[in-house]
Amino acid sequence: MKNRNLVSITDYSKEDISEILRLAHLFEQKTNQRILENKVIASLFFEPSTRTRLSFESAINRLSGRVIGFSEAGSSSVSKGESLKDTIKTVANYSDLIIMRHPLEGSAKYAGEVSDVPVINAGDGANQHPTQTLLDLYSIYKTQGTLENLNIFLIGDLKYGRTVHSLLMAMSKYNPVFNFISHKKLRIPDEYKMFLHDLNIKYYEHTEFTDIISRADIMYMTRVQKERFSDPIEYEKTKDIYILRNNMLTDTKDNLKILHPLPRVNEINEDVDKNEKAYYFEQAKNGVYTRQAIISAILGLKPENN
Ligand code: CP
Repeated sequence: MKNRNLVSITDYSKEDISEILRLAHLFEQKTNQRILENKVIASLFFEPSTRTRLSFESAINRLSGRVIGFSEAGSSSVSKGESLKDTIKTVANYSDLIIMRHPLEGSAKYAGEVSDVPVINAGDGANQHPTQTLLDLYSIYKTQGTLENLNIFLIGDLKYGRTVHSLLMAMSKYNPVFNFISHKKLRIPDEYKMFLHDLNIKYYEHTEFTDIISRADIMYMTRVQKERFSDPIEYEKTKDIYILRNNMLTDTKDNLKILHPLPRVNEINEDVDKNEKAYYFEQAKNGVYTRQAIISAILGLKPENN
């Protein structure tokens, strides 16, 4: 992983993922360390973010590194017409690593190609969100004790949800069964179904989940991605179809955990938050340890407690 870009979750092998999870566990044991002293990391967010940006920045600060960057393109020279290429080449002169979120699919791959320092994709349009996936895998491993042979329910916006796309590709290494639950206009794109078909991975598509919820080991809820819709009426028609409520969880498995990359809008009622099967806020916390693991692996640094 040293000096390599992390653009897509497919950049990491099963062994790479195991190493990230091992490192994340070490950082969870000892979150405050000094291993990033003298490192400057650029955080370039061309799209809004709370968890990804702040958990990366928290991760870096807790390892004694320094962060430069911006949280909206309007405060950078992009607003004067500067190209992404020139922006990345310039920022690479000032930093040891670039973390970037951008609305265009493929932007992270392009940034990685023109940058002299490694690039981490913090979300590129509806395409990929690999660091979210690694924290999702860490959360699943922590709560299930394994990543193998799980029944994964992916619910909500499976068309535009980049976290779903990355998670599906990663979990496919661990012999899962997938249940996709979505409105017909937000179904999982064909390219991902072909990906699963080629790997002989079982998947089922549904428009309802109340009758089958008892089978789930992981329920991965997602927000309908308003910002990706060109027609606001289509968003209104699809936004509140799947709402998980506490009384729906009565006959679910003991090991079930409910994950959500967040932010949520209406898709998980607040009465679920107090259920011990709700894990989404702990999941977000796991983002700090996992992102510490990713940064240290890319910069070739070991945790002090390794
Ligand atoms: N999960 C996630 O990407 O959240 P943010 O958009 O707040 O970073």
